[in-house]
Amino acid sequence: MAYPQTRLRRLRSSPALRGLVRETELRAGQLVLPLFVSEAGGAAGELLSREPIATMPGVERLSVSAAVAEAQEAAQLGVAAVLLFGLPAEKDAEGSAAWDEEGVVQVCTAAIKRAVPDLLVITDVCLCEYTDHGHCGVLRDDGHVDNDASVELLARTAVSHARAGADVVAPSDMMDGRVGAIRAALDDEGFSQTPIMAYSAKFASAFYGPFREAADSAPAMGDRRGYQMDPANGREAVREALLDVEEGADMVMVKPALAYGDLIRAVKEATQLPVAAYNVSGEYAMVKAAAAAGYLDERATVLEVLTSLRRAGADVIITYHAKDAARWLAE
Ligand code: PBG
Repeated sequence: MAYPQTRLRRLRSSPALRGLVRETELRAGQLVLPLFVSEAGGAAGELLSREPIATMPGVERLSVSAAVAEAQEAAQLGVAAVLLFGLPAEKDAEGSAAWDEEGVVQVCTAAIKRAVPDLLVITDVCLCEYTDHGHCGVLRDDGHVDNDASVELLARTAVSHARAGADVVAPSDMMDGRVGAIRAALDDEGFSQTPIMAYSAKFASAFYGPFREAADSAPAMGDRRGYQMDPANGREAVREALLDVEEGADMVMVKPALAYGDLIRAVKEATQLPVAAYNVSGEYAMVKAAAAAGYLDERATVLEVLTSLRRAGADVIITYHAKDAARWLAE
């Protein structure tokens, strides 16, 4: 029956009615806070140092001790997890600091698990923050990233994270076959219970700009289009996710998030796995800049953005707004 019998506004007439029929729920327990952990203050991390990141207001490069403090605060607010990115003191062609047992992510993972055992620690598994050329794998003589050689190093890195106590490892490199190789390596080393959150559909996106400044990981030459996906391709995103499921992924991810809601839905329906959406640095920077200029209401915008990702089908949301959002949700 149509108007006037049907009036959809009837169920919108009070906060109580709107609350009763609300379809989507956003909880702090679905949020993951990314942290940039820097060795600059000394890997042992006695120093409580924090260095602002110009392109990401409110986000800082943290020493290990500062990261532990940040993790404690996130846990108190009910945030589910932190996602660690490492900024090593030294970079080389292979990115060997990535699998160093005393590396900054390994040391920080152990420190957070000791201080806040109930907070999940997820580690980003990639080489771009550790290679002197800034690509996500090792380079061949012709300048292309060598897939299979890189996969071996990524598997070694994932095992070192698990050994340090990581609850979940999250490969973000986009090499073919890396999820299967990481699963096999983890199983061989006694970590059959460590889940893999695969950055399955990761696009070559302009929205990563602020992150690359934060992590000092912009490629020195060329770009990432030889391994990250073309933003024009949706069917291929579903193929990537299905392959990761076959290789043993426990969760799959779509990244970036805001311009990719169609793929969050498609990947969710195709895989039936928990899906993570990464609300990336550029999406964060846009909201912060517009809010600072007085163009947008930050709180309302952030909660709308995060709710829309849940509505699109995301089970888990990785976001630099996690602490603020958790605070607002508790009010
Ligand atoms: C590393 C990695 C990147 C991001 C997450 N992991 C950068 C990239 O691929 O260039 C981007 C995160 C963000 O923009 O917030 N490969």
